[in-house]
Amino acid sequence: MDPRIVRLDLPSDPYSIHIENSWTGLAPAIKPFVGNKVMLISDENVKELFVHDVKEILISLGCQVSLAIIQPGESSKSLELAKSLYTQALNANLDRSSSVVALGGGVVGDLAGFVAATYMRGINFIQLPTTLLAQIDSSVGGKVAVNHPLAKNIIGSFYQPKSVFINLHTLRSLSDRQFSTGMAELIKYGFIWDKELLQWLEHNIGSLMERQKDCLAYAIERCCNTKAHIVSQDEKEKGLRAILNFGHTIGHGLESTAGYGQYTHGEAVALGMVYESLIAYHMGSIDRALIDLLICLLKAANLPTKVSGVKVESLIKAMTHDKKNRDGSIVFILPTGYGQVKVFDNVDTQLIYSVLEGS
Ligand code: GLY
Repeated sequence: MDPRIVRLDLPSDPYSIHIENSWTGLAPAIKPFVGNKVMLISDENVKELFVHDVKEILISLGCQVSLAIIQPGESSKSLELAKSLYTQALNANLDRSSSVVALGGGVVGDLAGFVAATYMRGINFIQLPTTLLAQIDSSVGGKVAVNHPLAKNIIGSFYQPKSVFINLHTLRSLSDRQFSTGMAELIKYGFIWDKELLQWLEHNIGSLMERQKDCLAYAIERCCNTKAHIVSQDEKEKGLRAILNFGHTIGHGLESTAGYGQYTHGEAVALGMVYESLIAYHMGSIDRALIDLLICLLKAANLPTKVSGVKVESLIKAMTHDKKNRDGSIVFILPTGYGQVKVFDNVDTQLIYSVLEGS
């Protein structure tokens, strides 16, 4: 496969997202971004799969590597764990010319990015995302954070990586459920921005679900292009970037109210997109065919389309704590056409209830 490169043209910190099929293919592109000393952060699951190869490549590029392996899962995104990584960085004498390399999914990327952003007021940060969700969403755009016991992603910053390196081969290692969770975000790009991707998905979602390399490369490049375009216009989410949150108002509510582990992030976003589209339909913004297409694509990606066993009252309460909300009203990103969404902060609460209760 020919390497693909997506540019993220931020005025202050432009960078590239490299898409390849192997670590060795990416090595020449990685070389300019790593200094003499590197802290390679990964998790126990990824350790078995890719840490050895990536470490060898970094050593062959002349780096001294300090390896930090964290436990997989959201609970690792804590200030306590960040503190232990600062200690490791100090013990390894990392300085301002050193780099932090994140090898893993969203949790590893968010935590490693937070450490890179704050250690010595910021050192080089490089993303090597290994899940579909991280490759098309969390590794691109510079959102880094840890959690507070009372709220997710509440301590963080916008801190752009120097570069992102995507090895498509890593997607082979994902479970079907992990792959589907990334598919929810991939389908989201079609509905928020990219009508052509929607048309392509109608014909190719089967091959994509089989993880065919060419299909993956095409779809991932398209999604990274869309995200790069949006982030380059609105890095700090003052406006346009909020559209990336289609499905996330109800999705985040579901993640915090459904039983622990009931829904993955992508499953919750899939459900959020369905119910938010139903709200848009009842407001007269879209026709029913758009919802049918959404449901058809989500089903083809083995994602849920109907909520069960969630108390609507608690779900709406959880939605009122969303970071996007303004002046007490719940903010929604709702579809207004194929590949089009708008921000709404005036949705009738009764309509939200009736759509969710109809579930
Ligand atoms: N994941 C949404 C964003 O990066 O803005």
